[in-house]
Amino acid sequence: MATSSAESFFIATPIFYVNDVPHIGHAYTEVAADALSRWMRQSGIDTWFLTGTDEHGQKIMRTALANGVTPKQWADRLVEQSWKPLLSTLNLANDDFIRTTEERHESAVKKFLTLLHDKGFIYQGEYEGFYCVGCEEYKPAPDLIEGTDEFVGQKVCQIHGRPVEVLKEENYFFKMSDFQQKLLDLYQDQPDFIQPASVRNEIIAFVNRGLDDLSISRSNIDWGIEVPFDDKHVTYVWFEALLNYITATGWGSDEENFARRWPAIQLVGKDIARFHAVIWPAMLMAAGLAPPKKVFAHGWLLVGGEKMSKSKLTGIAPSDITDVFGADAFRYYFLRAITFGSDGSFSWEDLSARYEAELANGLGNLASRVIAMVNRYRDGVIPDGQPGSGPAEEALHALMAQAVPAADKAMHSFAPHEALASLWRIVEAMNGYLTEQEPWVLAKDEASADRLDAVLSMACDALRCLAITLSPFMPEATEKLWVGLGAEGSLQDQHIPDAGKAWGLEPGTAVGELAPLFPRIEQEA
Ligand code: ME8
Ligand code: MG
Repeated sequence: MATSSAESFFIATPIFYVNDVPHIGHAYTEVAADALSRWMRQSGIDTWFLTGTDEHGQKIMRTALANGVTPKQWADRLVEQSWKPLLSTLNLANDDFIRTTEERHESAVKKFLTLLHDKGFIYQGEYEGFYCVGCEEYKPAPDLIEGTDEFVGQKVCQIHGRPVEVLKEENYFFKMSDFQQKLLDLYQDQPDFIQPASVRNEIIAFVNRGLDDLSISRSNIDWGIEVPFDDKHVTYVWFEALLNYITATGWGSDEENFARRWPAIQLVGKDIARFHAVIWPAMLMAAGLAPPKKVFAHGWLLVGGEKMSKSKLTGIAPSDITDVFGADAFRYYFLRAITFGSDGSFSWEDLSARYEAELANGLGNLASRVIAMVNRYRDGVIPDGQPGSGPAEEALHALMAQAVPAADKAMHSFAPHEALASLWRIVEAMNGYLTEQEPWVLAKDEASADRLDAVLSMACDALRCLAITLSPFMPEATEKLWVGLGAEGSLQDQHIPDAGKAWGLEPGTAVGELAPLFPRIEQEA
């Protein structure tokens, strides 16, 4: 059996469909998982961040056909040209990237199917019902609505607004109905298993209504993983896609690694919470494996009040934003401006306003002023601030000592927006402090030398604390800041829980050149 350890953190994003290129909705999940995992890693926790691509199924097969290539050629093209480049566009430090067309996945999926078949959880039956290719999901009749416009008179999927297809075939079924009570017990025993509460309530209500068995194979398509006990069938795409979280971490091939990593925290959009909080734990229970540690469903990015999506032509490419503002600002903006777990509206105006106020004028300006003053007034050497320090410095150090654990608590509760708000109190307090202390006035009077030392040293110390704690959010700008401070060692090795301790910089350290952290954006006409 897999064991869980308090000292490990394994976070996985959904694996994304390769029928189309990434948009900022996908990028949102990626940057959240990346910031959370960087934070944990930098807190000394054994961390693993997994992402990847979902490449089988009808949707991808049809897209490939429409483009005159094979599904595998299509998937290769999209993965190489769009999905893997997204990792560097967003500056992601993922530990692994799994594709469902990889051998390691396909062979472990077959093993899993064989295991469930041997245990009696898979049986053959007749499926008759509706299927939405957009969702890659079987739809119960009550979930369908009347079509409009070109689809008048037809039943359509609520999400895609397109007609569902009638399916009637011999299928294999997973006995999901066996797990209704076990799932309800799980939700009860582990109240934070599904977050946020709105999603948890919806899932509990859904499971309370009863669970049908799940059709897990298809015989009318061949773009999928062959069912090991019946070569006329391929595995239903969702059933095998969910397995990526364990096939990527060694289930069935490297049990030691699997025991080290599993169970995962499943970070998903709320559109697919049900797959992760109902089907997935039921599959794991059937195999005798531990369910995920948690399913956290974040909200939707809305554009013009609607869920942004490619199929509705509201998709925005992540590089449209990063080309102008940079990856750091992308990461900061989405994690700061949206309450994690709620829907949030994206707008260029809001992004641009926060970039100016919080990044360029807030943090960027603070860093450049402080380093410039150390150069101007102290020949580029950080002075010893302790002899001349007093109540103002004590108050700032008390704030640092409070803000860092508060941010840590927020990250452990999946509230990156709160973590950033906590840390930003330091940025704001420091800007206020410089205005009050007026180091440029102190510099004019030799009698105030100790006070000037204290102020400059305090300011550098706060920048040190900010560089360390903001690095999971903004790895590039904080690296520049770290170099600018002339600090010792690699930034990624600085232990976050210690970052709030006072006087953490060696006096006598020579500051370096500070590259601009958040350059001015040329406003386009
Ligand atoms: O569902 N706002 O893949 P997918 C926020 N392959 N997040 C969004 C979003 C939006 N407007 N649009 C997409 C699949 N996302 C399956 C998953 S997992 C075993 C298989 C993000 O390409 C969000 O994380 O449709 C959502 O859950 C995911 O992309 C859906 O990606
Ligand atoms: Mg989707």
